[in-house]
Amino acid sequence: MARILTGIQSSGVPHLGNLLGAIIPAIELSEDPNNESLFFIADMHSLTTIRDATLLKENTYATAAAWIAFGFDTDRHIFYRQSDIPQVCELMWYLNCLTPYPMLANAHSFKDKASKLHNVNAGLFTYPVLMAADILLYDAEIIPVGKDQIQHIEMTRDMAGAFNHIYGSTLIEPKVMIDEKVMTIPGTDGQKMSKSYNNFINIFLTDKKLRKQIMSIETDSTAIEEPKKTEGCNVFTLYKLLASKEETEQMRANYKGGNYGYGHAKQALYELITTKYTKERVRFNELMQDKSLIEEELQKGAQKAQKIANTVLLRVRTKLGYSI
Ligand code: ADP
Ligand code: TRP
Repeated sequence: MARILTGIQSSGVPHLGNLLGAIIPAIELSEDPNNESLFFIADMHSLTTIRDATLLKENTYATAAAWIAFGFDTDRHIFYRQSDIPQVCELMWYLNCLTPYPMLANAHSFKDKASKLHNVNAGLFTYPVLMAADILLYDAEIIPVGKDQIQHIEMTRDMAGAFNHIYGSTLIEPKVMIDEKVMTIPGTDGQKMSKSYNNFINIFLTDKKLRKQIMSIETDSTAIEEPKKTEGCNVFTLYKLLASKEETEQMRANYKGGNYGYGHAKQALYELITTKYTKERVRFNELMQDKSLIEEELQKGAQKAQKIANTVLLRVRTKLGYSI
């Protein structure tokens, strides 16, 4: 049995890129009977950038609702909110004291964020230490993440290694898992779909608003009568990611044949999304209307997560020479 763990920040309503690139593959992985999954909402990491308490809470619920709507089995696995297990901050402090300053100063994601944001707080700097604590607190073995997170997992392994070297074998050194199949989903402007570029498609919006987002996908100015290129076309790329082989071939023929406008292709993409995700869209909105069910799920997960966290922390405290 492998213990898989991953976290997703609560920085907004999960968009199509988050769903196809992270949430759906993670749920598929959790369906393997040999795996035990711990999936959590990294709402403490979100505090590095979000200062509005109402927004932070709403984003956390929206992120949780997406996982539940897409069928994550919260009975068999552990689904929780990072801030419900504050023991993670205690472990973070211990790891802080073992982490060389230059390791954090040289982290790509810190340098990248520090160059873009005007508010560079210490939380952004120690972000990888909290992430390591997230992982090590639960004896996690496999961490599925996007390529941008590889360095964070390497740092986690270094921290666990340093701890084990000084205090004897205590923490599990996790392995990163990168799904090479998962491609970068383009946004409405063709760049990587991201909350920060405001180019995302939020499938949970009302029909009218979702259609408007899809209609805003940028295309070239080839006239309606003319044949169109599929490669490099954002509408076609998104359609292909979601459609069956036959549907994709039909769309390719429409592009080639001419007299088929981008408006038609966008309408087809809109219909495909609403048909494919009917159940999930309804479920998400039901959950967001009455958040008590989401809260119940998170409380249930927190109880399970607490048990593991307390066991590991006891082991760590004993090694460090603190009273237990
Ligand atoms: P965002 O860029 O919208 O802030 P995050 O950085 O919070 O997204 O990413 C959350 C998860 O979703 C990560 O695992 C990331 O790899 C995945 N993800 C985000 N955007 C995309 C995308 N455009 N294509 C594929 N996966 C993505
Ligand atoms: N930093 C990760 C991201 O932005 C989210 C995260 C926080 C995480 N803690 C984690 C991922 C622990 C894996 C394991 O995507």
